[in-house]
Amino acid sequence: MSTPPAPTRAPAVECAGLRYRFGDHVAVDGVEPTGAPAVECAGLRYRFGDHVAIDGVDLDVRTGEMFGLLGPNGAGKTTTIRILTTLLPVVEGEARVFGLDVSASPMQARRLVGYVPQQLSADGQLTGRENVSMFARLFDVPRRERADRVAEVLDAMNLQEAADRVAATYSGGMVRRLELAQALVNRPRVLILDEPTIGLDPVGRDTVWDRLRSLQAEGITVLLTTHYMEEAEELCNRVALMHRGRIRAVGTPAELEARLGPEATLEDVFRFYAGDSLEEGGELRDVRSTRRVARRLG
Ligand SMILES: Nc1ncnc2c1ncn2[C@@H]1O[C@H](COP(=O)(O)OP(=O)(O)OP(=O)(O)O)[C@@H](O)[C@H]1O
Ligand SMILES: [Mg+2]
Repeated sequence: MSTPPAPTRAPAVECAGLRYRFGDHVAVDGVEPTGAPAVECAGLRYRFGDHVAIDGVDLDVRTGEMFGLLGPNGAGKTTTIRILTTLLPVVEGEARVFGLDVSASPMQARRLVGYVPQQLSADGQLTGRENVSMFARLFDVPRRERADRVAEVLDAMNLQEAADRVAATYSGGMVRRLELAQALVNRPRVLILDEPTIGLDPVGRDTVWDRLRSLQAEGITVLLTTHYMEEAEELCNRVALMHRGRIRAVGTPAELEARLGPEATLEDVFRFYAGDSLEEGGELRDVRSTRRVARRLG
């Protein structure tokens, strides 16, 4: 098993508001304005009617790391992510992306984030290229750069050959890579993925893992949710265990395992913090929403 690089709290290199122009072309536009963590949640709470979906979430994702949010069905992972991506409002608590309050500056925050949702976000009736172009327009990628940027991310996701076929003909792994391309077209600094490999076969899964590792190596921070302990162990520098709307434990997989004993696995850690709800089996709607994602595009 390969060991992921372990970023420390101290930045290796710090830039504050760097700007550089070649003529009219802005090459570096405000890199790392604050040195703040990539993602911060403090005391986040959210209710659906009477139901408390998240109940005081505190979370820090450091710049440059790959961070895994783990937890059983219904734990509150997607709700947390939807607040961070401005799809749900901040009702109580704070959510920041690179120091920007997502509630006060939703548009600026959105520009820093690439999001691959748990539900399918690609349209089966459009080609791969058309799907990515639509995201480029949504994110205001300048018109004259659009075609190049779309080609660049399709290339990076190894979809150049399939780019002009409708997405309904793609395999599950290709759809996931297409969704990654969509999320990357606005050149985000943090990529947030909700169960990126659900329903994929081992080959599709490995390809997505490779792409995520390359993106991390290019300096993109990654926050992902997963139910696969192997995935968390293989990819993530640190993980958080979420249960019933709260973060129960945070650390490197090795640290969390060591807390339980010399032989403990990440699955033991998961069961230790979330075991009671596993017996209940989660709510039907939680399981159903997970399944829907596992299906291919129709
Ligand atoms: N739109 C909604 N309306 C009502 N309740 C909701 C809604 N979305 C989520 N919930 C509830 O909020 C809680 C947290 O759900 P959430 O989707 O955040 O969990 P999750 O950790 O992402 O689960 P999964 O692993 O199944 O994706 C669950 O009890 C869920 O039933
Ligand atoms: Mg979810």
